[in-house]
Amino acid sequence: MTSELYEVPEKIRLTNRFRRLREQGSLRTLLKETRLSSSDFMYPIFVDQRLSVREEIPSMPGIYRLSLSELDKELAEVAGLKIPAVLVFGLPNRKDSSGSEAYATDGIVQQAVRAIKKSAPQLVVATDVCLCQYTDHGHCGVIRNRRIDNDETLELLSRIAVSQAEAGADIVGPSAMMDGQVQAIREALDRRGFQETAIMAYSAKFASAFYGPFREAAESSPLWGDRRSYQMDPPNRREAMREIEVDIREGADIVMVKPALSYLDVIRDARNRFRHPLAAYNVSGEYAMIKAAGKNGWLDDKQVALETLTAIKRAGANIIITYFAKDAAKWLREVN
Ligand code: PBG
Repeated sequence: MTSELYEVPEKIRLTNRFRRLREQGSLRTLLKETRLSSSDFMYPIFVDQRLSVREEIPSMPGIYRLSLSELDKELAEVAGLKIPAVLVFGLPNRKDSSGSEAYATDGIVQQAVRAIKKSAPQLVVATDVCLCQYTDHGHCGVIRNRRIDNDETLELLSRIAVSQAEAGADIVGPSAMMDGQVQAIREALDRRGFQETAIMAYSAKFASAFYGPFREAAESSPLWGDRRSYQMDPPNRREAMREIEVDIREGADIVMVKPALSYLDVIRDARNRFRHPLAAYNVSGEYAMIKAAGKNGWLDDKQVALETLTAIKRAGANIIITYFAKDAAKWLREVN
């Protein structure tokens, strides 16, 4: 065979040359359809009542359980990186059957919120409204006859939300997946004069194995059974829209899809369908797998993390809750 067979005729005229716009870095910057920024992020922090120093979470390298005394340093860093918001999780020094430390006036989250409001008043403070870190059985609700009792749990969730609002939380985030939790919390907040406290509803929260590292970090694994009687079944995309719709009707200010990476289609559906601000939670397992592969030299964790966060934003999320927030904010300063 002669090589002429492969020769391109001299007068080929391509109408479309995509590569024209891909050649130069600055031109690529100009044409980015999705721009990731540190202002997209909400950074989760774990505060542990039993600690006097910080302790790294083994399955989440770079993420720590903080003592109250370590909080200031962390907040200064977060604020310095122009991350606008934190999401506070607590580990109490005592668990019981009704998770009473979750709504104690001097509970760990309540103390942390007051401390944050004092030392970093510019940060938006969101809190997680749930029972699993505080109950001795590790479930997100009250147990009656080995079942998680929905309606009885609503009262406790309302107490938790009110106590966090009292401490100064700007946003409360119910994550227990009890039916009616948004309505119950909205009514309770309003009755106490907290009309200005916003609700970020974990509306479409799936029963996901990607929460594994979080449960290790927060010591919140259920002692028996699993969370499938209250969290959503992963295959259900239509049901996710119903969950979000109902939360909006109950008064949610921000709605959420969680996890993010395996549910990008749900994020896109929600963005197309609703006008509310939409949060996506890039959960612990998503963080852990990228970190682990990076540590092994199997992929470039920095590039993969930025690609992932961009994908979550491209899918339609307005707020990205991510353990990568601090790292990504630093990396974005380099690339932008
Ligand atoms: C509490 C809660 C969980 C997460 C956030 N809030 C754990 C769970 O539902 O088991 C998971 C967050 C993560 O994995 O990063 N209900």
